Amino acid sequence: MIANLLKWLRTPSQKAIGLILLVGFLAGSIFFIVFHFTMNATNAMSICISCHEMEGVYQEYKESKHYTNRMGVRAYCADCHVPHGKTFGDWIDKFLAKLEIGSKDIYHHMIGTFPDKESFEKKRWDLAQNVIKTLKERDSKECRACHNYDAMQLDEQDKSASKKHKKAMESQDKTCIDCHTGVAHKMPEEPEAPATQQ
Ligand code: HEC
Ligand code: HEC
Ligand code: HEC
Ligand code: HEC
Repeated sequence: MIANLLKWLRTPSQKAIGLILLVGFLAGSIFFIVFHFTMNATNAMSICISCHEMEGVYQEYKESKHYTNRMGVRAYCADCHVPHGKTFGDWIDKFLAKLEIGSKDIYHHMIGTFPDKESFEKKRWDLAQNVIKTLKERDSKECRACHNYDAMQLDEQDKSASKKHKKAMESQDKTCIDCHTGVAHKMPEEPEAPATQQ
């Protein structure tokens, strides 16, 4: 059987390609299902920081209100960076995001895109823009899983916050991330444009 399989692989007929795809699909599905049901935000975080620990992002997060606060509610990496929700569309988004982190992050890690902290710093602005773009496209849905205008006591907030939130609620023209970057890590600084030669 193995010999036959090898023969197939050398001269891939359509049947063989079909089989390879099917096996790949089944293996991928099983992996995903196991991953999906065994992963909670806490142990996902230990995986995330196995790569992201040395960078500023994790150290800064530990100083933020989303890590520790008076109320004892913690937002984990995946709460803000992996889509979640109850609809089928959300589920697909989550699947795609996991695939993306699973493939892109691991790929760049393996090829050594960021051998040290400095090279990461250089790329931070671009990476932050990716995150912001994703959140905008989803109308900050990740934030809204915990925060909700309806649940806000606007009169308990300071003037500028309650004014902005009232307006944002009515006009719906801005989403959370438009006004609130840097809530878990410092928003990286925009790199200066390369000096033009004279
Ligand atoms: C195997 C190492 C590794 C693991 C595990 C890992 N990452 Fe990454 N991550 C990277 C690398 C490398 C990049 C830079 C990718 C690039 O250059 O596009 C990155 C980029 C990112 C970005 C930047 C935004 C983007 O999409 O470009 C975010 C956010 C992120 N990772 C979050 C996470 C979260 C959350 C987890 C855990 C669920 C995680 N990562 C697990 C290595 C890893
Ligand atoms: C898992 C739940 C959770 C998620 C997800 C979450 N937050 Fe929060 N956030 C909190 C809690 C709890 C506090 C209150 C901390 C305190 O008591 O000071 C908070 C505080 C804040 C604050 C005020 C403190 C500060 O750091 O400035 C802002 C602004 C904020 N969140 C914005 C956001 C945005 C924007 C997102 C999405 C990118 C988000 N949050 C995602 C739970 C969450
Ligand atoms: C038009 C801008 C704007 C939008 C949109 C906006 N905020 Fe704010 N928000 C502010 C300002 C300004 C403050 C007060 C200063 C600060 O904490 O950054 C504030 C404060 C907060 C605080 C802290 C409140 C406190 O009393 O300490 C939280 C939490 C928060 N915003 C969450 C959100 C979430 C979640 C969304 C999206 C559903 C959102 N905001 C949308 C401008 C905005
Ligand atoms: C409360 C929501 C929240 C949590 C929790 C959170 N992040 Fe982020 N993260 C963001 C936002 C928003 C950005 C976009 C840039 C910004 O506003 O700072 C970002 C940006 C990033 C970036 C891009 C580079 C950069 O410096 O902006 C990486 C990598 C990243 N996060 C990884 C992580 C990891 C790893 C964890 C867990 C240890 C984590 N994040 C926890 C909201 C969060």
